[in-house]
Amino acid sequence: MAIGTAGYTAMLCVLALEDGGVDPVDGDILVTGAAGGVGSVAVSILSNLGYRVVASTGRPQEAEFLTKLGAAEIVDRRELSEQGAPLQRER
Ligand SMILES: NC(=O)c1ccc[n+]([C@@H]2O[C@H](COP(=O)([O-])OP(=O)(O)OC[C@H]3O[C@@H](n4cnc5c(N)ncnc54)[C@H](OP(=O)(O)O)[C@@H]3O)[C@@H](O)[C@H]2O)c1
Repeated sequence: MAIGTAGYTAMLCVLALEDGGVDPVDGDILVTGAAGGVGSVAVSILSNLGYRVVASTGRPQEAEFLTKLGAAEIVDRRELSEQGAPLQRER
């Protein structure tokens, strides 16, 4: 009850990633909708599990909140939806 359905959902997502073999040593992990209910709990859980979390948000004013939750990097969600440049570094 304390973590709510959003927290429960976030944990199920993290368990599914682990079941799929995703590991902190594989590199950065991206959380979209990071400032939302599910996303913010996911940022916290993943960061506590040792992942380097990149938080994508449409609300850059929430950067401090996301950093406090454990996000190592904040990206504007537009950066992920716009077409990249030719020969851009793959990420
Ligand atoms: N909460 C639950 O118990 C629960 C349970 C099962 C499934 N779900 C599903 O999980 C998802 C997130 O739920 P939530 O409760 O966390 O909702 P939420 O608090 O409203 O968060 C959704 C987040 O999505 C991002 N977003 C909004 N418009 C967007 C757009 N046009 N493009 C890209 N991102 C956008 C925003 O993130 P930023 O603010 O960071 O920009 C927003 O905070 C939903 O699809 C929901 O149906 C939720």
